[in-house]
Amino acid sequence: MKVTVIGAGNVGATVAECVARKDMANEVVLIDIVEGLPQGKALDLAEAAPIHGFDTTVVGTNDYADTANSDICVITAGLARKPGMSRDDLLAKNAAIVKSVTEQFVAHSPNSIIIVVSNPLDVMTYVAYMASGFPSNRVMGMAGVLDTARYRAFLSMELGVSVRDIQALLMGGHGDTMVPLPRYTTIGGIAVTELIDSETLDSIVARTKTGGGEIVKLMGTSAWYAPGAAAAEMVEAIIKNSGRVLPCAAWCTGQYGLNDLFIGVPCKLGTTGIEEIIEVDLDDDEIAQMNVSAEHVRTNLANLERLQAAG
Ligand code: NAI
Ligand code: 2OP
Repeated sequence: MKVTVIGAGNVGATVAECVARKDMANEVVLIDIVEGLPQGKALDLAEAAPIHGFDTTVVGTNDYADTANSDICVITAGLARKPGMSRDDLLAKNAAIVKSVTEQFVAHSPNSIIIVVSNPLDVMTYVAYMASGFPSNRVMGMAGVLDTARYRAFLSMELGVSVRDIQALLMGGHGDTMVPLPRYTTIGGIAVTELIDSETLDSIVARTKTGGGEIVKLMGTSAWYAPGAAAAEMVEAIIKNSGRVLPCAAWCTGQYGLNDLFIGVPCKLGTTGIEEIIEVDLDDDEIAQMNVSAEHVRTNLANLERLQAAG
């Protein structure tokens, strides 16, 4: 198995580290436009291998020929948020970057699976989908695994229980309109509403929705440990074909009443990528929240089209 990570910045390097440390691939290729950066980070990671005890070969490069015949690609190239910026402010610049890196990558790995991380996530996944020409099961976006992890972490902090016993579902776009679903949240099999009052739960849901911004405010740029680990979890699910069900930005063709856009929905992942979009029952309020989130993604898609038409 060969995994390419495009963008050797904070998130990309963390994805490479997580994939290498779990020994799930034979080779990880880290590629960036900046000369020396991917080479330096790859060498540093390779030098950590004897300590961590992994055998994955880590290569750093600026040449897409080195990514040839990759099985999976994680796209993290692009600008990250700074204080005062929303993910949507990155739209035009990151669209050009994601389109360009996707085209260069697929020319060398036409049978691969692409996981997009660059923001604004749902629209960048669409850009990669169009640029790749791949079928929709082989292009997906990472956001739900991260957002669900944040939600689970906050619940764990509140309840003092292990994160391992918290199962949760979160859907929608990667933005403040995301849709955490307390009705599908359990602690060791017990409905979360049995263990936590509604006011506290509401505040945890609200914190989850703005979890990315909370970190940007603290340190002046966006997060990378949890995002990197989240993308690596999706890579592992695909490589191991273990039938994991994870929230991914997937191309909807009528599921949840949504069409022709990438948005976060529960997916079964396997060697062919997205093997199934799982449809759960949503109540009227949850459907309304999903529609608001989808509308936000559509507005961003329209903004992108306007920007592209204007040249
Ligand atoms: P970063 O600035 O640390 O790294 C980005 C890297 O992309 C840089 O090394 C840069 O040189 C590289 N790059 C830029 N143009 C390129 C090109 N044409 N070809 C190859 N490499 C190129 O940023 P960071 O923190 O790693 O974030 C990366 C992206 O991921 C941002 O758009 C950020 O908003 C997004 N993100 C998404 C998350 C999600 O949940 N989907 C979570 C965290 C970040
Ligand atoms: C995050 O949620 C900024 O999308 C990035 O941390």
